[in-house]
Amino acid sequence: MTAKPGSTQKTKLPPPGRFITFEGGEGAGKSTQVRRLRERLQELGIDAVATREPGGSTGAEIIRHLILSGAAKPLGPLAEAALFAAARADHLDATIRPALARGAWVVCDRFADSTRVYQGALGNVDPGLIAALEEVTVGETRPDLTIILDLPAEEGLARAAARSGRNADRFESEGLSFHRSLREAFRALAAREPERCVLVDAGADADAVAEAIWTHVSERLKPPAPHRKRRT
Ligand code: TYD
Repeated sequence: MTAKPGSTQKTKLPPPGRFITFEGGEGAGKSTQVRRLRERLQELGIDAVATREPGGSTGAEIIRHLILSGAAKPLGPLAEAALFAAARADHLDATIRPALARGAWVVCDRFADSTRVYQGALGNVDPGLIAALEEVTVGETRPDLTIILDLPAEEGLARAAARSGRNADRFESEGLSFHRSLREAFRALAAREPERCVLVDAGADADAVAEAIWTHVSERLKPPAPHRKRRT
């Protein structure tokens, strides 16, 4: 409904949505913590959406299969960065921006920092190019908070290997030194952008990690208190 010209009636806008991303190496427990955070937000009566990258929309899921099967590996890290960016553009348009626009909180398992670290820091794709891809795909839809789950590479790989007995994907099958460098690159990123990123020790049990994450979310983003029902 539009207000009449000159009228003082205000259009009621939805409360602003919030965008939280999770990052980290393999086996750090991101998907568990994404689910737990979404549930905790929902318990407060907040409209919360959990999603993941690569994927989270129809087009992006197709690209996910292409990359994680290893089919795009021979094309090199630059082509992979472009594919991740294409998937991200679709994910943002189809899932993330519509959810934020209606006031939902979006909790996303990996986002643009993964491209910076996997394809940029480790794949040696030019940082200027990574930044340009980020500018055209992400634009102003930057995360309000990024939780980086930190775990020694050996532990993360052991956890990933124990997971449901599936075959290692394109990146899990890289060697230990790749995963050690990955951890260092995520730690460096957290140190470079402390206003957006927090580093959380993922070595503790899942309950303790969830509590640490909740402390950061509450302090930094101040979720609204649960809605009280009006007395009749
Ligand atoms: P996934 O099965 O979702 O793994 P994880 O549980 O570790 O998140 O696989 C995603 C893989 O893709 C993961 O190894 C990280 C990698 N990746 C990139 O290299 N660049 C990116 O931009 C994204 C989003 C993921």
